Amino acid sequence: MQFKMSDKIMRVKPSAIGEILKHSSDPSVIAFSAGNPAPESFPVKAIKQIIDEIFVENPIGALQYSVTEGYAPLRQALAQMCAERYGIDMSENEVILTAGAQQAIDLLCKVICNEGDAVISENPSFVGALNSFRAYNTELLGVEMEEDGINIQELENLLKAKPNAKLMYLIPNFQNPSGKTMSWEKRKAVYELACKYDIVVIEDNPYGELRVAGEAVPAIKTIDTEGRVVFTGSFSKILSPGLRVGFIVMNKALVDKFTVAKQCGDVHTPILNQMICHKFITEHDFDAHIKNLQEVYRRKCTLMLEHIKKNFSEKVKYTVPEGGLFIWCTLPKEVDMMSFCSRAVAEYKVAVVPGTVFDCDDNAVSQSFRMNFSAVSDEAIIKGCEILGKLTKELLD
Ligand SMILES: Cc1ncc(COP(=O)(O)O)c(C=O)c1O
Repeated sequence: MQFKMSDKIMRVKPSAIGEILKHSSDPSVIAFSAGNPAPESFPVKAIKQIIDEIFVENPIGALQYSVTEGYAPLRQALAQMCAERYGIDMSENEVILTAGAQQAIDLLCKVICNEGDAVISENPSFVGALNSFRAYNTELLGVEMEEDGINIQELENLLKAKPNAKLMYLIPNFQNPSGKTMSWEKRKAVYELACKYDIVVIEDNPYGELRVAGEAVPAIKTIDTEGRVVFTGSFSKILSPGLRVGFIVMNKALVDKFTVAKQCGDVHTPILNQMICHKFITEHDFDAHIKNLQEVYRRKCTLMLEHIKKNFSEKVKYTVPEGGLFIWCTLPKEVDMMSFCSRAVAEYKVAVVPGTVFDCDDNAVSQSFRMNFSAVSDEAIIKGCEILGKLTKELLD
């Protein structure tokens, strides 16, 4: 049969970098291309113990249908966590559990945007979110990233020119893919613009706990007096991405429609997984766990930066992130980035992600590529940087 697919899904194209990412699962390839947490960061024993306890204490509760908004004790614990850790003061009724932050972003776009409305994003940005915006047939508009976050002047120009803009998508902490953190001045400026041009902001914060250097910067949500900032978080990078538990904190006026949208999608996030997250953050030493994660990532990030510095051509520029999982490298104009990435994986067996993947414009040309330091061993970081370094020198020096 010849299927006639919807215009919406036709806009989300299988990525041209499929070949590169396919190689990433080859065990002989050093995969700097993933975004996975470090294997040693998973608290496997604690999770096993928690599951055993749940099956003694409340097995039917863990296996039964549940409410769409999420497991009430977890909603309560997350409201408390947001207040204590991020200074975000919201009631538990404004916290909804989702299947990862990905679903939170996707459903929020569904709730806010009609086809043809514009979504403004930092450029480059997280491809999962960009694809959701595309799949709702929105007009996706990117704003250049500077060292300290989104270019405010360009953002205002765009907001002026695009009265159809309804939603702004930002990752202020250790952005994926650039690793950059938005300054406090820019966070305030973004909020002022959002109010002036009457636009909803998604503040996506999956990496916020993974700070390895510098001082924490308050969330945009902390200055939101109008309820226009929606804050998303996730257990993926701090506990387990396979559990698929994330959350969204939003003004109560949005909660009912968001809940209906989630009901249509998956009824509720697996209750057993929510119970695991709840017990982990309330009955285990969550602070010690986060401290341990920060130590692992500080070591890996420092190691990768050291070996980039030691091996790469000086003509390659790269970000020095204060947290998160990624380093963003930029080649000078004389090198074709796509062929660099293709050669790296096909000939040298080191996979990185071409920058074009993260561009708001499907047809954009990029000079950058993303490297991940969390999912690979220390030995692989050293060896992979040596190999990539040789290739940069062969092409540039
Ligand atoms: C910036 C950002 N937001 C959201 C997500 C989605 O995370 P999850 O759905 O696993 O919570 C990711 C995943 O890599 C991400 O990088």
